[in-house]
Amino acid sequence: MGPRSAPPKFPRDATFIYRAYLADTLVKLIGDHIDADLVYDAIQTPSTLVNGDLVLPPTTTGIHLPFFFTLLPLPRLLLPYIFDWQGSYGKTLDVGLRNPSTPQLGRKKVIVEFSSPNIAKEFHAGHLRSTIIGAYISNLYESMGWEVVKLNYLGDWGKQFGLLAVGWERFGSEEELARDPLKHLLDIYVRINTLFKPEAEASKRARDEGRDTAEIESQGLYAERNAFFRRMEDGEPEAVALWRRFRDISIERYVSTYTRLNISFDEYSGESQVQPASAEAVEKLLKEKGVYEEDKGSWVIDFEKHGSKGLGVAVVRGRTGTTTYLLRDVAAVLEREEKHAFDKMIYVVSSEQDLYFRRVFKTLEFAGRADLAARLQHVNFGSDILDQSSTAMHDVMRRNTAKYAQIDDPDTVAESVGITAVMVQDMSGKRINNYPFDIARMTSFEGDTGPYLQHCHARLNSILRKAGLTRADLAQHLADNLDRLAADLADKQHCVDLLRLMAQYPDVTATVLRNLEPSTVRTYLFRLAHQLSSCYDVVQVVGANEGRDVMLSRAALYEGARQVLENGMRLLGFSPVER
Ligand code: ARG
Repeated sequence: MGPRSAPPKFPRDATFIYRAYLADTLVKLIGDHIDADLVYDAIQTPSTLVNGDLVLPPTTTGIHLPFFFTLLPLPRLLLPYIFDWQGSYGKTLDVGLRNPSTPQLGRKKVIVEFSSPNIAKEFHAGHLRSTIIGAYISNLYESMGWEVVKLNYLGDWGKQFGLLAVGWERFGSEEELARDPLKHLLDIYVRINTLFKPEAEASKRARDEGRDTAEIESQGLYAERNAFFRRMEDGEPEAVALWRRFRDISIERYVSTYTRLNISFDEYSGESQVQPASAEAVEKLLKEKGVYEEDKGSWVIDFEKHGSKGLGVAVVRGRTGTTTYLLRDVAAVLEREEKHAFDKMIYVVSSEQDLYFRRVFKTLEFAGRADLAARLQHVNFGSDILDQSSTAMHDVMRRNTAKYAQIDDPDTVAESVGITAVMVQDMSGKRINNYPFDIARMTSFEGDTGPYLQHCHARLNSILRKAGLTRADLAQHLADNLDRLAADLADKQHCVDLLRLMAQYPDVTATVLRNLEPSTVRTYLFRLAHQLSSCYDVVQVVGANEGRDVMLSRAALYEGARQVLENGMRLLGFSPVER
């Protein structure tokens, strides 16, 4: 093989050697004027095995040239490789490196902001999906070698708190608060909102008709709400103490929800933590650039006027001088940049806030920080689903406990399987789509469900156990007996295809790092699982009468497949069960 200047793109991909060889051969055919790296990068993995193991798309024609691996070297290349790299097989580490020669120093840093519920309001479906998708994205970046900061940006500041406090003054009861704190706060919030609704509607009508809303908002609950929030922003001890009390109650509840979901955060921040000075710094920049204007007492950005079609006009500082959601968010970006010097920041928030995030990013650009805006990404998703998921999940776990009676720790297993169920369902489509909440389908062990994957993993585990073999036995065996496996498999296409699929895994992880779509990994894992079940019929380990060498070789094949399945499941944030 000819020399290649650059190191292979995916050093944890056993088949890079095929790619490199193919690239070199192609360069020789086409002529030296073409860059080998370009050809190397153009080689892709097709989505079905019938279309080959690698393809080269000749761009202008739409034709894909297929290439097939020859069987003999495949197990020899792949299996020892998977055994060596184990949990790292498929990790494209260099993608996350600033400088590949100094892995630790040079790691890139990503902040993943997700979940971010609102204090004293319902933890709704959107927050749950953000939690699941955010945890998945964090996991993904972590396993690709990035340094990840998982951030929960609590909705713990703003006028809705003023309203809650007004409600507390009217309907609050220390007794009920002691009995069921969060429920009581939610009750209060619902009741005060009902009273507030006519006022809010009157104000919206006025705004829609282009009338001034100042008068409406200077009386009634509006005035009370705004006055309380003003006191909070001024740091008045009594107002702050009440706010802190409500906040603590909510956080306690959220933390227990996260524990059940097996999700943790590196940092709990929140809208309340954004410093007034940072907000003022943003405003100063906006004024300097001439995009910040006063409008009837509030401060606004007219995006349309400054060339951003479709973004409308947004209030940045309210009429009573208080900060807005938008101003706090933009200020928070500056603070996080200061604190973390991140390379990338991802907001996992429902598509209801698409327009909003475009405004956040544009505001930064207007403030002269296009460099910073370019590092931000809003990862969205559809959000009106999964309403009763937390109760449903509870149910699943209870039902599974009986079934797992023979297992050492049925609670833990039931928990893992139950959570995998919800997550697999969540990952079955594109993030942006919603899906019907079908608990029966979700928890079934048949079809493409989480429990099916778990079952598949447990079955692979039991093969080694039943054969009385350890992973060390297999690794030992792999050293010199692999040709036997190739010979044994030569007429068993199902198993050859299993190997070919296993070889694709590093490509799947590389793709998913680009598209951040969990369904890419999920689809792959089910292909792998289906392929495995067709192999079981043809290739047995225990009871194979071809002798011990063949048994060991086959066991190594299944163990390799198990490792790939495990890596994929972990990438999605599942904990594979042993039995
Ligand atoms: N708390 C907000 C909500 O529940 C989501 C926060 C999203 N993140 C942000 N930086 N604005 O709607």
